[in-house]
Amino acid sequence: MTATNSPAPIRVGLIGCGQIAQIMHLPFLAESPDFQITAVCDLSAQTATAVGRRYAARQITTSSDELLANPDVEAVIICSYDHAPAALAALAAGKHVLIEKPLAFTPEEGAAVADAAAASDRVAMVGYMKLFDPGFAEGLRRFGEAGEHRTRTVHDLAGRFDIAKTMYDQERFDDVPSEVLQRGQADVGERIARHLGDSAEHADLYTLLLMLSAHDLSVVRVAFGVPDRVAYASSRDPRHLLAVLEYDDAAPVTFEIGAGSSYDWWDEWVGVSSDTTEVRVEFSHPYIRYAPTTVGVRETRSGMESRGRLTAGPDDPFRRELRHFALAIRTGVDPISTVGGALEDIELASAIIKALPVSARHEGDGR
Ligand SMILES: NC(=O)c1ccc[n+]([C@@H]2O[C@H](COP(=O)([O-])OP(=O)(O)OC[C@H]3O[C@@H](n4cnc5c(N)ncnc54)[C@H](O)[C@@H]3O)[C@@H](O)[C@H]2O)c1
Repeated sequence: MTATNSPAPIRVGLIGCGQIAQIMHLPFLAESPDFQITAVCDLSAQTATAVGRRYAARQITTSSDELLANPDVEAVIICSYDHAPAALAALAAGKHVLIEKPLAFTPEEGAAVADAAAASDRVAMVGYMKLFDPGFAEGLRRFGEAGEHRTRTVHDLAGRFDIAKTMYDQERFDDVPSEVLQRGQADVGERIARHLGDSAEHADLYTLLLMLSAHDLSVVRVAFGVPDRVAYASSRDPRHLLAVLEYDDAAPVTFEIGAGSSYDWWDEWVGVSSDTTEVRVEFSHPYIRYAPTTVGVRETRSGMESRGRLTAGPDDPFRRELRHFALAIRTGVDPISTVGGALEDIELASAIIKALPVSARHEGDGR
């Protein structure tokens, strides 16, 4: 392919230039012939300036309104904190938008983005990179071949979050006044509390479900469909959750998530078992570029146990997600990771939290 046949790169702006933007989106965007990093925005002027210079962005700003008013910016990637208002503003400004997970902090706010996306002719996609993981795709194929599922499990015990600080050089500054950060967090906290109502005591757990486990909820939905009901939910502390998700016509899904471990790895997998076969997709560490996801298959053959392990080819889910974003913008193909799907994930997060016992204080905590 010659350069003259290549379409012009899509001019992209980033809102939020923190860790995930710096370790994944920006390096992959910079390498890609599909994109040109045209604008960067961060509340931190020092971060925006350092990142903007590193990637030779023409516009460097602390105001997302300014970035969205730039007619040169065709597409926006939202990697900030409070995504729904930014996504609504981006769509209103006529930009294509890739929204990092979670789509929103409440189902109502997610529904507003879904409505705006449906009414727009722009691409709106959610940053669920696992849905672009070739290992997950292979696992789904194997789930389909395994026979009737007797058990189905989604499990995610997060590893150390600080690992990325030692692996990648990052531009980090603390020039945003703490009142600004606190005001933003308090506003989100109030919106979450209002949504949860009687279950507001579980707000920390709900936030964990959205921030850490939006991925796991999307894996449930894509692998097994939206559950018909939450049959059970329990939590020993705000860093752990166990739920049983029931389906009218299929085996339930056992869903267990947790944070706070000191693992150097990430214990995140989705698996099924039938009468003859076990299949387990073990996801790669989300912060390690090009780390492969593996699929373990254990089956009975000729009365004997057979074990195999498939390793996904050398590509990165974040890179594939960006390529899919470019494809959706250029061809109009429907994105795989839809805003509507992400809304269903937030609704499930809310249903799980509302299934937890209310005012069940942990024994001995004195409250
Ligand atoms: N897909 C994934 O696996 C994955 C992994 C990590 C984080 N994330 C998501 O990406 C988002 C960012 O996470 P992070 O780890 O990079 O956090 P971070 O705190 O390192 O970065 C967020 C950045 O956004 C900036 N920011 C906040 N509000 C802003 C605003 N209104 N306008 C402009 N800039 C703003 C902050 O100053 C900060 O630099 C989170 O929502 C998180 O859920 C996704």
